[in-house]
Amino acid sequence: MKGGRYGRLFYYICNMQHFLPNGKKLVIRAPEVSDAQACLDCFLQLTQETDFLLYTHEEAKRFDLAAEEAFIRSYKDHPDNLFLIAEADGVVVGTLSLNQARFQKQKHMALLGIAVLHKYWNMGIGRRLLTAAIRWVEEHPHITTIHFEVLATNERAIQLYRNFNFIEHGRIPQGLQQTNGSWVDLVVMSKRIKY
Ligand SMILES: CC(C)(COP(=O)(O)OP(=O)(O)OC[C@H]1O[C@@H](n2cnc3c(N)ncnc32)[C@H](O)[C@@H]1OP(=O)(O)O)[C@@H](O)C(=O)NCCC(=O)NCCS
Repeated sequence: MKGGRYGRLFYYICNMQHFLPNGKKLVIRAPEVSDAQACLDCFLQLTQETDFLLYTHEEAKRFDLAAEEAFIRSYKDHPDNLFLIAEADGVVVGTLSLNQARFQKQKHMALLGIAVLHKYWNMGIGRRLLTAAIRWVEEHPHITTIHFEVLATNERAIQLYRNFNFIEHGRIPQGLQQTNGSWVDLVVMSKRIKY
């Protein structure tokens, strides 16, 4: 079966095709190592466009092609982590990652990261990436729960998570300091996908 260590579901989510409101074809799939340059270009643009991510653009610039290739390979070699790209007409416009917690006692927890290029916001790409990730967790043998922290000012992301019934558990006051010196609270959110 295609999909190797990831099994049937991984093969399925590697082949999800949609259409955007502007008529462009959208594919949600796991990247190949040969997608590294496109993924890196997307990552660098994302960190320039938004300060809702943990990475600054300066930190992102430390990644080169070899590092991005190694990054993609690490997901291909690790069946408990997931990395997906959203491709609109062949261009990588968004990414999603789920990383299993490193401790045995938290092996049911996966940390979410998600981002879409600004030009493509509000087209349902975040929703489709998250849907694919939830389906992957539904089938995963150990992971039951997705968790993350989101900037309290990130209304669009919080709306996306509310749409999927993620629960807000509280805030970490001044959990993040932007490069301009301003402080932002972090909202702790999670969702148990299966029991
Ligand atoms: C958060 C992000 C991934 C969402 O991706 P997206 O493709 O725009 O998401 P969708 O189009 O699927 O959904 C966005 C939702 O936010 C809503 N929305 C848009 N602008 C909004 C605003 N100002 N306030 C509240 N909700 C808003 C949309 O209406 C939509 O909800 P709906 O489906 O109920 O109408 C994207 O905005 C992004 O990459 N932001 C920068 C990086 C980031 O913040 N990552 C998350 C870190 S935790």
